[in-house]
Amino acid sequence: MTQTDTPTGSALLAPAKVNLALHVTGQRADGYHLLDSLVVFADLGDCLSVTPAEDYSLTVTGPRSAGVPVDDGNLCLKAARLAGRPVAIALEKHLPNQAGIGGGSSDAAAVLRGLADLGTPLPDHPEVLGADVPVCLAARAARMQGLGEVVTPLHGLPPLPAVLVNPGRPVATPAVFKRLEKRDNPGMGEIPEDLATPADLTTWLATTRNDLEAPALALEPAIGAVLGALTSLPGCLIARMSGSGASCFALFPDGVTAAEAARMLRAAQPGWWVVDTRLS
Ligand code: C5P
Repeated sequence: MTQTDTPTGSALLAPAKVNLALHVTGQRADGYHLLDSLVVFADLGDCLSVTPAEDYSLTVTGPRSAGVPVDDGNLCLKAARLAGRPVAIALEKHLPNQAGIGGGSSDAAAVLRGLADLGTPLPDHPEVLGADVPVCLAARAARMQGLGEVVTPLHGLPPLPAVLVNPGRPVATPAVFKRLEKRDNPGMGEIPEDLATPADLTTWLATTRNDLEAPALALEPAIGAVLGALTSLPGCLIARMSGSGASCFALFPDGVTAAEAARMLRAAQPGWWVVDTRLS
């Protein structure tokens, strides 16, 4: 995570989050689902700054700013209001929206981190902003359980060279949960402590799932095309959807192979968002 102080406020990275595995283990009476998920973060994401101000405000720029709300519907403003500190937020959007890689949640968590740097305590229940906000506050490898509010940091996972892909089709999370057929699946079980390489982790990941992949695929067939393309890239260890989609990731044994795979996929699919990154 890069974070440098500037005269106008903190420059913060809101990294993409990736669910390496996501099991839906139950459903509460209020409709919310119980999750068991292994979450890691990319070394790229949105950039933002928060500067003390008289009132709450937000500007959104950057290559993926189209369609991002700038009104009170934006999670960044909701986060600042929850913390109770008026700030001017400048958000530079690089991550696709409604994409299963935590764009909005990671932005909101970065605002809360920026406010903490300014001396404003973190809110007691950041999960009211969204289920992924607590894990995005940690912004490092963690097991996420409950509705998303139970976050257990994980140590010792190997850094994971990866390619992230989004086909440019937003997916609405509630619609995916609604289509889920089975809601009381087993959890991930114990996460082994001796996962030294991406290949070791992949062997264990093969025993896990993303339970939202099938319902998301039924809603958005482009996810199938992305998974097919990732799986056929040279060196791909495993390809899977993240969150409720439509973004998918593939893991590779090393960074050079991941970068070459991303180059090939970008050439074949110029309309897709394709990045190579390191997950940790
Ligand atoms: O918390 P977040 O805003 O990401 O949730 C979006 C929607 O996803 C919720 O309104 C709910 O329909 C569904 N959801 C769920 N159980 C969770 C998290 C999200 O059913 N643990």
